[in-house]
Amino acid sequence: MQVITTISEAKRVLRALKREGKTIGLVPTMGYLHEGHASLIERAVAQNDVAVVSVFLNPTQFAEGEDLDAYPRDFEADCALCERLGATYVFHPEPSEMYHDAHAFVNIDYLSSTLEGAARPIHFRGVCTVVSKLFNIVQPDRAYFGQKDAQQLAIIRKMVDDLNFDVQVVGCPIVRESDGLAKSSRNTYLSAEDRKAATVLSRSVFRGQEVAHDGMPASELVGEMLHVLAEEPRANVEYVCVNDAIDMQPLDALDTEALVSMAVRIGSTRLIDNFVYQPA
Ligand code: PAJ
Repeated sequence: MQVITTISEAKRVLRALKREGKTIGLVPTMGYLHEGHASLIERAVAQNDVAVVSVFLNPTQFAEGEDLDAYPRDFEADCALCERLGATYVFHPEPSEMYHDAHAFVNIDYLSSTLEGAARPIHFRGVCTVVSKLFNIVQPDRAYFGQKDAQQLAIIRKMVDDLNFDVQVVGCPIVRESDGLAKSSRNTYLSAEDRKAATVLSRSVFRGQEVAHDGMPASELVGEMLHVLAEEPRANVEYVCVNDAIDMQPLDALDTEALVSMAVRIGSTRLIDNFVYQPA
């Protein structure tokens, strides 16, 4: 496995492999890799001749006052994991390699107006911009994204479709801890007490999955899930919402494929979780 830090080297190496007819899989990450990331990398390794993992803590998707500076990093451990899983390259540029002053941005605004986009106004603009850049640099045949960040996955699919990127987007299921908590680099922020309390998100998601049925009013489903969240005094609910799984707009009832998602603060740590409801 080789680490590449410049755009020109990445293009040179990967274009040569493309010319040889090799297929390329890309897994974009911000590092501090865990088993959620590993599941994406394993699929990229299995389905492509060459697997590229990008490890780039993208500054443009963090607003002033968010956790960019505190975000956990361990590049050595990330490389060891990528190597063990059989990745071919780790692309690890400096922010100055990726951005210059007055940089252009990619914005998929309609899908970014709700949920995480409403809570974090510049977040998806930063995500779409960096993912566009990575697509152009790596030119992958397939790119792997987790259902953990369901709105991000929907927005990337829309971006690829609308802007005619020649990439197949592969969505991968949420990987959870044995007690249900969705794996996240941000789980390291949790104190021991908060870590215990954080299981309330997945308990609420599982309850939602259990009671959801065709035609159910969204308010009723949200009520059931809020009821579980209310059991945990450390949980501060930001939202529990039911949205169309494709265009991310609010739904009144479970009459189409729906994203049922939540953002909850446990202490000062903001966590997200979700499930997708498929009508019969
Ligand atoms: P990051 O949070 O590092 O996540 C990288 C990828 O891993 C995302 O596609 C995310 O959905 C997936 N992932 C994280 N936790 C997961 C879990 N428990 N189960 C399954 N997949 C999981 O998401 C980003 O980085 C950035 O926004 C990025 C797309 C790299 C752009 O900067």
